[in-house]
Amino acid sequence: MSNNLSRRNFMKAAGATAGFMVAAGYSPFTYAQNERVRVGCIGTGGQGSFHIRDGLTGASEIVITAVCDVFTPHQREAVKYSQLSNAGITLTEGKKLTDEEKQRASAAHKPNAYYDYKEMLDKEELDAVIIATPLNTHFPITMDCLDRGKYVFCEKTLVRSIEEGRALIQKCHDLGRWVQVGHQRHYNPKYNMAMGLVFDEGRIGRINHITAQWHRNHFWRRVLPKDYVLNDEEKKYITDLEKHLNWRIYEETSEGLFTELATHQTDVANWFMRAIPKRVHTFAGLDYWRDGRTTDDNILLSFEYEQGPGDPGFIPIDQRSQFQKLNQINRGYKVRFVYSSILANAKRGASELIQGDKGSIELTEQQCFLYGEDYVTQSAEAVSAEDQAKNTASGGTRQVSNEELKQGVELLGDVTLQTPDVYQFRAFADCIKNGGVPRSNQMVGYTTAITAIAAVQSKKEQKVVEIDPAWIKFDFETPSFYDYDAWDAETEATI
Ligand SMILES: NC(=O)c1ccc[n+]([C@@H]2O[C@H](COP(=O)([O-])OP(=O)(O)OC[C@H]3O[C@@H](n4cnc5c(N)ncnc54)[C@H](O)[C@@H]3O)[C@@H](O)[C@H]2O)c1
Repeated sequence: MSNNLSRRNFMKAAGATAGFMVAAGYSPFTYAQNERVRVGCIGTGGQGSFHIRDGLTGASEIVITAVCDVFTPHQREAVKYSQLSNAGITLTEGKKLTDEEKQRASAAHKPNAYYDYKEMLDKEELDAVIIATPLNTHFPITMDCLDRGKYVFCEKTLVRSIEEGRALIQKCHDLGRWVQVGHQRHYNPKYNMAMGLVFDEGRIGRINHITAQWHRNHFWRRVLPKDYVLNDEEKKYITDLEKHLNWRIYEETSEGLFTELATHQTDVANWFMRAIPKRVHTFAGLDYWRDGRTTDDNILLSFEYEQGPGDPGFIPIDQRSQFQKLNQINRGYKVRFVYSSILANAKRGASELIQGDKGSIELTEQQCFLYGEDYVTQSAEAVSAEDQAKNTASGGTRQVSNEELKQGVELLGDVTLQTPDVYQFRAFADCIKNGGVPRSNQMVGYTTAITAIAAVQSKKEQKVVEIDPAWIKFDFETPSFYDYDAWDAETEATI
């Protein structure tokens, strides 16, 4: 599909994003031009090893000097792939290394491997850590790493309770540090462009509704390795291997779909609303995969946001009808966001639809579209009795037909979308080396976690839960959770 929204036009249009920049205490280490940021990877299962094989391989500013995992097979793989990553070599399935690549890999730094992340922190000279462990461990590991002076990248969902979230934000403030959170859409050029279209160009007008979903048809359960016997070191950390590998479907270690899938997209809603919701009502249950798991497999959440004049997400409207009360059109308003995640039908997959009075933006896993909307205005002129009768006969109100809906335009359709995993780690290294606060910072992580925490509470109490604005109030400045940035043509990344 043709794209009339060129990358360069977007760059001109999306100027914003100063936000919370380098404040006192946020001074970076001093790095020589080509010096690499030394990281230790904690948790090298699915996502941790993806980072090593993909994002970190592309981010040449980073060298993996240590890895840590309590499960030996994941630890061993991590060592192998880290050495390749340090050499900048991607080993895709079925690909054989050339002799030159083999030489380069064996000459690259081989990371030390650990079971205990505290031992790793004690023994290794690390600038930063990447945490990709189960949800219930994010808070303690992040706090320990911050206390030991490390820059932290932690996977979503950042925390599991308001208390954890507030303690983490306070810790960042006390130490003058930030935490980058793995909400990688903040580094996706298409999402950033969409934010620019909404807030710099007003292309979809006032957002009045959001829908999003992540639908899968999958058991979401891992099968145990056959006849695996835990060694003595593993036994210190793993009491039940099945629960260890399937942590995301047990409520002791995760909130299931609420924290593992929904937060990817409630994050998007908060971003476009530039706010956290005021309230949430949840319906959820374990209706299909009754196999011993304790987290739900079918969740439906409805959030309500409130926008008042002067709020960052408030978008004024023009008068469209003689009947609108002029003194009321730009008063506060509410926006509703409906979200579902299911595990027994994959139709519609994962996407977000942001609807405004002048258009919509649809963000899917592959593409992003901008759709125009028939912006009908009601004239103040008196109509003839004949026209009035015709109008009444046709139902009185006018429905916009599908044909009238304007054809969608793909955003940045001319740009090959490299995986944003690289972008988020290049941004991580850039903030460490050159200063600045990551766009997906600790407040992004915390405000997004709030959506899951409140939604789970609503499910448990079977009532609408009011989200207390005091949860995100602090007596010090915190980074913004809704900044966005232009596509950088030089580096081909939004950093
Ligand atoms: N941003 C994304 O798109 C995305 C995608 C998938 C997963 N994630 C997140 O990444 C995190 C990990 O998910 P996953 O799918 O990789 O899970 P996983 O089970 O595949 O990997 C977790 C690893 O952590 C290890 N581990 C557990 N406790 C540990 C500890 N105390 N010290 C060291 N290692 C420990 C486990 O042995 C395992 O290898 C989760 O928070 C998840 O939500 C993010």
